[in-house]
Amino acid sequence: MSAMPNPTAPADRGGLSADYLRALPKAEVHCHLEGCVPPRTAVRLAERHGVALPAGARDGGDRYRFRDFDEGLKIYLAVCRSMQTAEDFEAVTYESLVTAAEGGLRYREMAFNPQNHPELTYDEMVGGILAGARAAREETGVISRIVVAINRQFGGEAALNLVREVLAHPHPEVVAIGLDGDEKAGRPAEFVAAYDLARAAGLKLTAHAGEHGDPTEMVECLDLLGVDRIDHGYAALLDSALLARTAASRIPYSACWFIDYPELEVEGRRRDVAAMAAAGLNLCLNSDDPALIGPELHEDFIDAAAQLGWTVADAEQYALAGLDASFADDTTVEHLRAEFTAELERLRPTAYGANHQ
Ligand code: ADE
Ligand code: ZN
Repeated sequence: MSAMPNPTAPADRGGLSADYLRALPKAEVHCHLEGCVPPRTAVRLAERHGVALPAGARDGGDRYRFRDFDEGLKIYLAVCRSMQTAEDFEAVTYESLVTAAEGGLRYREMAFNPQNHPELTYDEMVGGILAGARAAREETGVISRIVVAINRQFGGEAALNLVREVLAHPHPEVVAIGLDGDEKAGRPAEFVAAYDLARAAGLKLTAHAGEHGDPTEMVECLDLLGVDRIDHGYAALLDSALLARTAASRIPYSACWFIDYPELEVEGRRRDVAAMAAAGLNLCLNSDDPALIGPELHEDFIDAAAQLGWTVADAEQYALAGLDASFADDTTVEHLRAEFTAELERLRPTAYGANHQ
């Protein structure tokens, strides 16, 4: 006869309390600012600026409704078009960071797409983001940095011009260049000049790859763009050489758990993340688009812990993983690491709930 498992025994896998997982200090490096705008805010901004939102952004109540990634991306672009002033950027940044801080977020790298906001100059957008980030930090302590994301759809020359614009208006909080949008819209090879220029200026480099595309996309990002991090990267599971190479190099993967949208085949995605962790990749968990795709990062932690049967050590490792992947300066990261370590130790006795013996 087999012994009955005791689901609350601390030595066992699983059973971590939701309160503990929510309180864990967290850091994420892959989160789109425009994907943090809740539908009610998007509707308000769209009405103010006379922008027509797709039906899926208007009638879903607290949620956006879309059938697949392409439809979700159309909503994302319409939300972008609804942010037309520096004050809009400030309000969206503030609201998103304060909301996430309630779930234990202490550090976020926020990507935004300047090319999706033609009404504003680069400096107006960054100025708004920095004002919102400052207010959120004063209120909650959450620290943030900015990734300027190139939208693949606009091509290589526009990307190069965007990087020139970024370099002409330096801000210490802008730490990296990213690449996002529809993976079908253009190969990473198109963006070599933009990435070379950004690297020469000391910016860090990341790119979305292997989210929908195949592993050759990821190899191009590594070999031609020289990325320091990979956003998503699930397609690595289809290429054993790439898997071995990136496990050995320890390049960070900013993966996303995605629990809210069955339309995006999240079951498959969660299996991918679990397989990537099992393959020994340097993985951190991220919310990506917490308002668009959902949910907030602490909810991903709660679901991942249950599905993967996390131990306390697993939870602590994922809490710290976002810091390992961060592009912030060493002093900031070390300061955060010391804070996280002390907080993790303080929280450890609560991992299985207040009433646990
Ligand atoms: N822009 C916003 N979210 C994105 C995602 N998940 N993939 C590519 N581009 C995006
Ligand atoms: Zn993303």
